[in-house]
Amino acid sequence: MVIHKTKSYRDMSKKAANIIAAQVILNPASVLGLATGSTPVGTYGLLAEYCENGDVDFSNVKTVNLDEYYGLDENNEQSYRYYMNKNLFRKINIDISNTHVPNGKAENIDDECRRYEQLISSLGGIDLQLLGIGHNGHIGFNEPDKVFPLKTHCVDLGESTINANSRFFKSIDEVPKKAITMGIGTIMKAKRIILLAGGEDKREILKKALFGPITPSVPASILQLHNNLTVITSIDF
Ligand code: GLP
Repeated sequence: MVIHKTKSYRDMSKKAANIIAAQVILNPASVLGLATGSTPVGTYGLLAEYCENGDVDFSNVKTVNLDEYYGLDENNEQSYRYYMNKNLFRKINIDISNTHVPNGKAENIDDECRRYEQLISSLGGIDLQLLGIGHNGHIGFNEPDKVFPLKTHCVDLGESTINANSRFFKSIDEVPKKAITMGIGTIMKAKRIILLAGGEDKREILKKALFGPITPSVPASILQLHNNLTVITSIDF
């Protein structure tokens, strides 16, 4: 594990954007695993700038997102597809048909989970996975549990996640109760992982995840076992 402590959110975003840019320069047909949430917004903004300046070419890149709320379609402003289109895909020269997010409106959720897992395999797996961390230690939407779920699956969102994410919705009742997420196994198969954490409110959970026992009650703790993990954080812990 390599930990970069940065002076600010801006520096954290810059380090992450630089690593992603380097990945795409080294392998222009990279498969990038992408995350949502407020943490990576700065990283995506910088990648858009690099693309606009002609420094990075995304025309052959493919992306797979970690997760999506179940029940929201891509036109819903709270859906993760909407977020990705707005914060990144529409601002870079990526072919939108090469961008993948689980379908939150799929009729059969289990079929959609299987389709998504197969899709990732058919792309040859993920070269670089970007992650944030939830207050309860979730990665993607893998909530604290008794086991580490291996594959893409449907989850019932926990109370703390629903509360935390309600800030993006008009009321807490509008927050979907279910989501589709890559499994812990799907994430751990990525060749390289970057974990971003900013904000003092993440200090305790980040410490637990990186230095505490490896347990499914702190899903991110599994990352300690990944052989190419880079943590970039503006938290002084
Ligand atoms: C959501 C996403 C996660 C993300 C987490 C943290 O629940 N499913 O992938 O890491 O939020 O979000 P934020 O960066 O806003 O703290």
